Amino acid sequence: MKIGILISGRGSNMVAIADAVANGEIPLSEVAVVISDKADAAGLVKAAERGVETVVIERNGRKRAEHDAEIISELNKRGVELVCLAGYMRLLSPDFVRAFPNRIVNIHPSLLPAFPGLDAQRQALEAGAKVSGCTVHYVDELLDHGPTILQREVEVRDGDTVEELSARILNEEHAAYVEALKMIAAGEA
Ligand code: GRF
Repeated sequence: MKIGILISGRGSNMVAIADAVANGEIPLSEVAVVISDKADAAGLVKAAERGVETVVIERNGRKRAEHDAEIISELNKRGVELVCLAGYMRLLSPDFVRAFPNRIVNIHPSLLPAFPGLDAQRQALEAGAKVSGCTVHYVDELLDHGPTILQREVEVRDGDTVEELSARILNEEHAAYVEALKMIAAGEA
């Protein structure tokens, strides 16, 4: 399974995936490329340190479809079969979703359908949720939407700050993403 990972920033989920692939936890798979839409994404250095090819494709004021077409072309050039969004902060164009039918996955830091969009952890705190977590799902044309592959729950503690809750969820995200990819590799998702 040739995996392409899209990032925009820190890249901790990308690292979790790359390390799980490297240590054989996700069998018969390879991270073919990490693509960032931001040249200064910290994740680019982490990918390079792991010997994974990195490519920067910035938006540069182009239309979304045009930007996405370049990303699709780079993914196709490398024979990518599964696209993992890992902190990629852009909505994909319909053409992108159609180019990889049922082969794009995303991770989101809430129990979808609760709290889609930005600042999901803050949304959970402000709503007074007692439980939150993360969701790995197939991507469709809507934001943070599409069939769920798996979710992991995290307790929301009294007095939690956004940072504390986010850190607890992030810990589960890394395990959830690896588990979801194992399921996909095994044809179980
Ligand atoms: C994660 O919380 C992920 O769920 C969300 O953006 C964040 C990315 O973090 N989509 P990282 O770049 O993987 O460290």
